[in-house]
Amino acid sequence: MQFHVITLFPEAVRQMLGCGVTGRALKAGLASLRTWNPRDYAEDERGTVDDRPFGGGPGMVMMAEPVSLAIQQARTASPQGSRVVYLSPQGRPLNQHRLVAAARNDGLVLLCGRYEGIDERVLADQVDEEWSIGDYVLSGGELAAAVVMDALIRLLPGALGKNESAEQDSFMQGLLDCPHYTRPERWRGQPVPQVLRSGDHGAIENWRKRQALGRTWRRRPDLLARRQLSEDEQRLLQDYIDDYNSRPRGADEE
Ligand SMILES: C[S@@+](CC[C@H](N)C(=O)[O-])C[C@H]1O[C@@H](n2cnc3c(N)ncnc32)[C@H](O)[C@@H]1O
Repeated sequence: MQFHVITLFPEAVRQMLGCGVTGRALKAGLASLRTWNPRDYAEDERGTVDDRPFGGGPGMVMMAEPVSLAIQQARTASPQGSRVVYLSPQGRPLNQHRLVAAARNDGLVLLCGRYEGIDERVLADQVDEEWSIGDYVLSGGELAAAVVMDALIRLLPGALGKNESAEQDSFMQGLLDCPHYTRPERWRGQPVPQVLRSGDHGAIENWRKRQALGRTWRRRPDLLARRQLSEDEQRLLQDYIDDYNSRPRGADEE
């Protein structure tokens, strides 16, 4: 997948993606990253890209022309059908469902704002969608763009090692993931659940499904309300709930 990021801080974006799963995927050519700096399209020699807001008030606004030219270049260089997405706190809240759909495209243009944001006329004219990574305000869109690219890259076939799988992750099946454990078998008096050491793959799978359902029920009931449960899943969840409700207060969660 080709990522084209329009940013005043290209090095920051590169650094954020350079390590771990995303770094390996970029090296392996599963994803590529190209950056476009509006400063390169500024009209004056100083590379001015921001100006004071009409109507007064604090802060600066990114100017229409340099941003617009950068978008045009990025659009031209990106695969056909690539969407131009402005990262913005006012955008549609991002979720896994939307990312899975976006991962089917060959390219994506991500526009990062700074200061008070970008001149509204460019957004109206050249942006296809606005995405928010949460109800809080960042200083710039670069962190948000990195979040989007990281979450998308791990969905690309071959991006995760053979022992990892995005399919089991939280939200992929409309549930939270089950808890995970590794060696040692007992850590500070706390054992790993017996079933995970049993070698019984059917029982392990059942336990994991039951935990995923139970966790989602306790932590994110809104997800369960949106998901159809199979008969098996209903039984496992009811079992978890009965067990949970019969525990003494303060007992271990799982
Ligand atoms: C300081 S913010 C501008 C906030 C803007 N004045 C507002 O209140 O809507 C600068 C840039 O950070 C990015 N940004 C801030 N919060 C974000 C969020 N929650 N999700 C995605 N991008 C965000 C956007 O690109 C924005 O243009």
